[in-house]
Amino acid sequence: MKILLAGSGGREHALAWKMSQSDLCDKMWAAPGNPGIAQHAECLDIQADDIEGVIGFAKDNGVDLLVVGPEDPLAAGIADVAREAGILCFGPCAKGARIEADKAYAKELMRSAAVPTAEARIFTDLDSAKKYVLSRDHGVAVKASGLAKGKGVIVCPEPYQAVQPLEDIMGKRIFGDAGEKVLIEEMLTGQEGTVLALCDGKSIFVLEPLQDHKPIGDGDTGPNTGGMGAYSPVPIIDAAMMRGIEREILVPIVDAMRRDFGRYEGVLYAGLIFTPAGPKVIEFNCRFGDPECQPLMMRIKGDFLAAMVAVAEHKLDGVSLWFDPRPSVCVVMASGGYPGSYEKGFEITGIDDADAMEDVKVFHAGTSEIDGKLVNNGGRVLGVTALGDTIAEAKKRAYQAVEKISWKGCYYRKDIADKAIAAT
Ligand code: AMP
Ligand code: GLY
Repeated sequence: MKILLAGSGGREHALAWKMSQSDLCDKMWAAPGNPGIAQHAECLDIQADDIEGVIGFAKDNGVDLLVVGPEDPLAAGIADVAREAGILCFGPCAKGARIEADKAYAKELMRSAAVPTAEARIFTDLDSAKKYVLSRDHGVAVKASGLAKGKGVIVCPEPYQAVQPLEDIMGKRIFGDAGEKVLIEEMLTGQEGTVLALCDGKSIFVLEPLQDHKPIGDGDTGPNTGGMGAYSPVPIIDAAMMRGIEREILVPIVDAMRRDFGRYEGVLYAGLIFTPAGPKVIEFNCRFGDPECQPLMMRIKGDFLAAMVAVAEHKLDGVSLWFDPRPSVCVVMASGGYPGSYEKGFEITGIDDADAMEDVKVFHAGTSEIDGKLVNNGGRVLGVTALGDTIAEAKKRAYQAVEKISWKGCYYRKDIADKAIAAT
């Protein structure tokens, strides 16, 4: 099969690495890819959100399957255009991507399906929103309803702290039109977890749970990032809980989407908080998480490309995938200064040594090659991922690999997976 992968992050490198292991993969291209993805695919000078460019290339080159990594092209309808052109696509239609791109819609869908989620009110008027938060006596989470590059959520333990973010999002429109509507949610407390499911519009296949680490600093301090590390499985999510999440969250929401617009074809990401009253959804995403995809792909056994094709062909019920029982840990190495401003262009050394370690894989995110040298070119630069017999072993191995890699100013959290180690 000829595969075209849209995207350029660590998530896409993990997907390219996994898909390239399949006998079904004859040729892979990436739009635009990165130096890590280039080990498995031919990288094209086409951006992932250039729908015309991606689909034009796919048509001209007989692409059989388009795999879409990020949310923006999905929300803009790339999967619809691919399917109209007769190309199989792993990724939901624009109506399906609304579950991530329109949080007000997602909240209404959850309500209609009685999916447990944080209580929320939706506002389009700044003064009413401010009045509402000032009437609250518990913490709130302010959320821009549209896509805001993962930065549109501000958690405010004291309700008055929500006033400034509301002014920024609704008044100053710091996230543009994404701030036209805002959700004000009750602030939930508890550990977070991620559960992903492959969906073909009829059946779902639930994948092993993960936990992300959003804040930049050790001990979950400092501003939120796209994710500084992740691990799988999650000791606090046992098999009974997973069954409950499937029954009470994933199946009802997929049914609600089918009633609303039809098939959701791709992966559905449920971001959960495990409250004393049970798991509640804080977000759905229409794609794999980044970095969650990296430790997930390390554990997946079986032909993952075949499973992606099965999703696109609505044959998910015949899929056979299983998981390495060994836990995996991914430590994200970032440019110094991220998530604020940072300098690019420093040479990265040590990746080959780290990659040569047993059960270690270094996934590229924000790297680029300049004059034959690999340099940092983004906020999150590498996802150093390892398997181990225990979660503590996986963490140890991941950090041993991390220590072999360096560039000027590189930064990483030192405590990825500590919550899991404490719970085992
Ligand atoms: P998101 O961008 O939707 O992933 O949200 C970013 C982070 O905000 C999440 O990982 C949570 O830590 C936090 N968050 C979102 N919604 C809530 C909520 N209702 N209560 C507490 N924390 C939340
Ligand atoms: N790591 C969180 C996300 O991909 O949304």
